[in-house]
Formats: sequence, C-alpha cells, structure tokens
Amino acid sequence: MKLPYAEPYKIKMVESVKRSTKEQRLKWIKEAHYNLFNLSSNKVFIDLLTDSGTGAMSDKQWAEMMIGDESYAGSSSFHKLKDTVKKITGFKYFLPTHQGRAAENVLFSALVKAGDVIPGNSHFDTTKGHIEFRQAAAIDCTIDEAFDTSNPHPFKGNVDLKKLEAVFKTHPKEKIPFCIVTITCNSSGGQPVSMENIKAVSALCKQHEITLIFDAARFAENAYFIKKRETGFENKTIKEITKTFFSFGDGMTMSSKKDGLVNMGGFIALNDEETYKKAITFNIMFEGFITYGGMNGRDMGALAVGLDEATEFDYLESRVEQIAYLGKKIVAFGVPVQKPFGGHAIFLDANKFVPTIPREEYRAQALAVELYIIGGIRGVEIGTILADRDPITRENRYPDLELVRLAIPRRVYSYNHMDYIAAVLKNIFDSRNEAKHGYKIVEEAPIMRHFTVKLEKI
Ligand code: F0G
Repeated sequence: MKLPYAEPYKIKMVESVKRSTKEQRLKWIKEAHYNLFNLSSNKVFIDLLTDSGTGAMSDKQWAEMMIGDESYAGSSSFHKLKDTVKKITGFKYFLPTHQGRAAENVLFSALVKAGDVIPGNSHFDTTKGHIEFRQAAAIDCTIDEAFDTSNPHPFKGNVDLKKLEAVFKTHPKEKIPFCIVTITCNSSGGQPVSMENIKAVSALCKQHEITLIFDAARFAENAYFIKKRETGFENKTIKEITKTFFSFGDGMTMSSKKDGLVNMGGFIALNDEETYKKAITFNIMFEGFITYGGMNGRDMGALAVGLDEATEFDYLESRVEQIAYLGKKIVAFGVPVQKPFGGHAIFLDANKFVPTIPREEYRAQALAVELYIIGGIRGVEIGTILADRDPITRENRYPDLELVRLAIPRRVYSYNHMDYIAAVLKNIFDSRNEAKHGYKIVEEAPIMRHFTVKLEKI
C-alpha cells in the first residue's frame, strides 16, 4: 500500500476553536451586516480570512522569544536577523519594519515621486496604494493567462515581457524608479513566477537601467513551485533557489507575516548603498531606529528562525501540498476553482459557482457568506465589493473575476479541517441552483469599502 502523506511536525500546544450552530451563525452574520470582517473570531470555526500573521510558530521560534535582546540600538536579535536575511537573500543592506506595507512606505518614500510609473505583476493592494498615494501609477504587466481561472499555466505570476518593454519604451527611465515583481503573485491567485521569467525581467531591466525590486511576502512558496515545476531546479535546495532569484534583483520589500512565519513584522533588503541611506531617514521617522524598525527584539529573533524554517523543503511540502489536497478534493466534487492551486490559498470562481445570482447582487460575497452560514468558515471576497467604485462615475467596477479566497494559515489546521471545508463546499455546490439572490449595499465608505461595508439580504 502506498503510504499517505503525513506532516513533518507534531503538536505541542493546542488552541480551542468554537463550534456553533447554523441558527447562531445566521443571527451573528445578520448582526455583522453580512460583512465577514465584522465578525469576532470566536464566532468563526475555521478562519481562512488570511494567511497573514495567522501561522503557528515552532518551539525553536518560541525559544528564541525568550532570549530576545530588547536593546534600543544594536541588539543581538537584530544581528541574528540581519545575518539570516543576508544568508537567504544575498542582499547587502537590511532595514526592519513593523510589517510589509511599512516596508513599502519607507522604500517608496525614498524612491517614488509624483508622475512616476511602476510596472509589475498585479501589484498587491497596499503596494498599489503606496504608489497611488504618491501620485504615481502602478502598471500591471502580468501575462494574460493569469486571468483565465481554468488555464493550467504553471507560472501564472509571470511578467509579460512585451508589456514590460512597452512601459520602458513609452516612459523615460527617470520616471520609472523601479519595476516590482511579486513572488508569489497574491493578486493573480498565489501564482508563482518562474526563474526563467525573473531572469528575463532582470535582463530587460538592466538593458533599460531600471532597478528591480521583489515584493517577497511569499518568496519561499515561489521557490517551492520552481523546484517542483521548472526544469533544472529539481535537485536544488530551496535556499539555493531563493539565493539565485534574489541575485537577479536589486532589493526587496517583505511582509514577514507570510513566509517569515511570524505574526507581525517586515523588512527591506537592498544592494544599493545610496538607496539604503535614503531609506534610513524614513525608517527612523516612521518605524523606529534602524536596528529595530517597529519590531521587538524577541520578534526579530523569532523571524530569523522562521525564515530559516520557511526555506526548508519539508515544511514547504507540507504547506503547499495541504492546499493542493483541499483543491483536489473540491475539484473532484465539481467545485470551480482557480487552477493551478495557489501557494497560500484556494480561490473559488464565483462566476461559475453561482451564475444564478446577478453580479449586481455581489455573488462572490454571497458565496462567502453562505460558506460561513453553512460551515462557520470565514473566507474573503475578492470581487466587486473589493474592486470598489470608479472614482469619477461612482459606478461599481466589475472585475473579470469574482473570487472567494480561502487562505490557509501556516501549520495551523489539520487534514481533517480540510476534509470539513471540502464537505461544506460540496453541500453548498449541490444546492447552488437554489441561490437566486445576493445582497445590496446599505452603507459604504468612500474608499476601501470592503472592510466596513454594510449589506442587506435581497
Ligand atoms: N505584499 C503582498 C503580496 C501581500 O500579500 C501583502 C499582504 C502585503 C504586501 C502587505 O503586507 O500585510 O504585512 O502589510 N497581504 C495580506 C493578505 C494582507 O491577506 O493577503 P502587510
């Protein structure tokens, strides 16, 4: 008999999660105005809202917390982290920040001016926010295959080189402070970028004298996909792969809440001394002194260990294959999802799942709410509500894809939880034709409405 897969860790500490009844959840979600962000976590059974800062630390990380050095300047925890970042990324200079968007704020303060353009592959919301806040523009150069959920392309995070070259040719290089490549690409479904593509983007950037920055929040998952899917990397270690792709860039911003395996933290790593010096000033103003940047000493220590653990094959296999297990299971039930499965999440395709609910009635949100009512599972809508209104016409913007993201926290849930999620989805899918109506908005904020929007059932 072929042996089944089993995780390369055992559990030392457990946290209870509350079960609830469907009647309770119907009441709670109504009180929350059908907005899953308004639910307190004790009303959620399985929380798939995000994989950011929601992972479980290892015993070695917790041990590091106890010996954290809380010195304001030059703490030994800072040096541990700096050495690990150097070892894993190869970048010369390092600045800690309190999370990923803070790293963006500091680095972009040093580099981005009004009127600039920053090409990349489906910039994450906060990245785009920090660009647009500075009156600059984010230009999406992701390959077209990324936007067809059934296309099995192995590297749907890739940058379209023609689109990138067009940006370089139509804007003077003084207006392009850098190009940003997000690995893996969250906004296109947790999809990886191939080494070949990174290399080609790097060559094009060099040819046009443009800096290349990585948004590296999920860089280790990206390396795992390269090892599994790209010829020539089968026998490389994850650390060799990460070192190789970072060698093609000039720097990175990091949300350590993902592949850093910690609950809070971020950093910037760079090769250019000039940029580092500029960034120091903003780091001190916004984050704190350069040897802590908004992080506790103990958290820097835990992050150093987390980065090491996240770049080990066994951990990544357990992580990415758990998500694929859930994906395969629900695909077998006929549930439409984004393929290939992402590195951190499964994305349900609501346009195919509940086409019977009109788009104007927020079908992806309706599906996310149903998942909560039936199973106590909290996912997140990545559809019309998130896409918000056109700033000029104030009409709803209808994106090509209406998705529900089920982000899986790292080392938190078991295969039984995956089976439970799959069964809930099957039951919803089997009765999908009964779903005729969704929701209407009764109250919304002028921007970023999804966090606070109030809805009513139609
Ligand atoms: N870049 C990417 C690709 C991200 O996914 C995120 C956060 C950030 C930057 C910002 O990092 O949260 O530490 O400030 N993504 C979270 C998510 C919020 O749920 O996908 P942060």
